[in-house]
Amino acid sequence: MQKDENVILEDRQGEVLDSLPAQNNKATKKLYIESYGCQMNFSDSEVVASIMNKNGYATTRNIDDANVVLINTCSIRDNAEKRVRNRLTEFKKKKSDNPDMVVGILGCMAERLKKSLLEQEKLVDLVAGPDAYRDLPNLIDEVGTGQKAVNVLLSRDETYADISPVRLDKGGISAFVTIMRGCDNMCSFCVVPFTRGRERSRSPETIVNECHDLFQNGYREVTLLGQNVDSYRWNITNKGQIKNPDVPTVNFAQLLERVAQVSPDLRVRFSTSHPKDMTDDVLYAMAKYENLCNYIHLPVQSGNSDVLKRMNRGYSREWYLDRIKAIHKIIPDCAISTDIISGFCGETDFEHLETLSLMDEVKYDFAYMFKYSERPKTLAERKFEDDIPEDVKSKRLSEIIEKQLGFALKSNQSRIGKVEKVLVEGESKRSSEMLCGRTSRNSMVVFPRSNVKKGDYVLVKITDCTSATLMGEISK
Ligand code: 5AD
Ligand code: SF4
Repeated sequence: MQKDENVILEDRQGEVLDSLPAQNNKATKKLYIESYGCQMNFSDSEVVASIMNKNGYATTRNIDDANVVLINTCSIRDNAEKRVRNRLTEFKKKKSDNPDMVVGILGCMAERLKKSLLEQEKLVDLVAGPDAYRDLPNLIDEVGTGQKAVNVLLSRDETYADISPVRLDKGGISAFVTIMRGCDNMCSFCVVPFTRGRERSRSPETIVNECHDLFQNGYREVTLLGQNVDSYRWNITNKGQIKNPDVPTVNFAQLLERVAQVSPDLRVRFSTSHPKDMTDDVLYAMAKYENLCNYIHLPVQSGNSDVLKRMNRGYSREWYLDRIKAIHKIIPDCAISTDIISGFCGETDFEHLETLSLMDEVKYDFAYMFKYSERPKTLAERKFEDDIPEDVKSKRLSEIIEKQLGFALKSNQSRIGKVEKVLVEGESKRSSEMLCGRTSRNSMVVFPRSNVKKGDYVLVKITDCTSATLMGEISK
């Protein structure tokens, strides 16, 4: 089977932060930071780079130059953790040549495994969970004095709202902006509530200001990040009460409008929506502003209501399909993507077939597809048996992927002949003669180089496609 990067997203792995130090030109020490996992982790690494920069560290791409090596990790599936362990073993070898180098683990694995990586496995010198990054300079000092440098305290209010991240992205055009942290949902398969703590939102003013600054600095696209963006709320308790009557309340639809108004030339995306919480107000906001991109990532996980119940997702197949109907009604040309898990605990053949039939109904433009991987301490681990044999999980996953590849190709074929507004991201990976960029629907378009540059909007007539990419030419 063809492996198609638009259809299957393995966890992003091993990207190195190499932005230049923005605020502190007197940085004398070097930080090497490598990131794994979701977009939120990549965004967090930019916050970490900023904190470290203020404390005299410039980032480097060369690990052998580094005084401090940090690895920002993911726990979502077992293979993500395995990859990090291999990397830590490589770092350990480097440390034997360079004993002064400090090696630290950040992110979800740090939170999940706490002291064990430091005390039992002796793989790192420092452990910092997702809410402890302000403490990194102190922790590094503690390593120097021979103390156990661990901070895995989760916070109810840390949002790093005041920190201006050092940017790592597609050449200064597109940036992540974190709008909330943590998750209160408790999906039974998911480790995130344990590693990232309770849900909390960042103030709308700091979000809008950050987007404004990005636009002033030449950025033309922001992706607003949160584990469940639909439950973004400012000045409202989780029971719906107003906290301070003198301050306006802001929900996600209202936040989207505020960010959309930063500039019509700033594209706005967001991730991730939750089907149980996605309101029509969000869809109406998207329909109202051209720069709120026509793309929604709406993870379904399974097409069967009983599996969804075991997953504790809080919606049924029918509810999900109703949300899809609402998207099509309110935003007629909206691309939709999803996440699907194959072989969750107790999944029968019939339940798997229901996932395939749901895919037939929705016809996703993109999908990220995974085999179920049992995670320690989750509800599923405590309540259910991970009883689907590996070969059955794999076979079901192949069927899901095969189907999705067909829909991705059809989705792209339906664009042939159309003229798309593309935000130019730069040279295409394969040829310096070609440029690439995305449509509002998040499709990658490749077209011959002409007199346009990164950050420009161009109209491209689509002439051909694969299941992953559209090809075209600039339309006169
Ligand atoms: N096993 C497999 N996939 C998982 N995901 C989350 N937890 C697990 C797990 N234990 C998937 C879900 C989620 C995406 C980010 O990762 O599909 O939406
Ligand atoms: Fe991985 Fe989830 Fe943590 Fe992101 S929040 S790094 S996906 S476990």
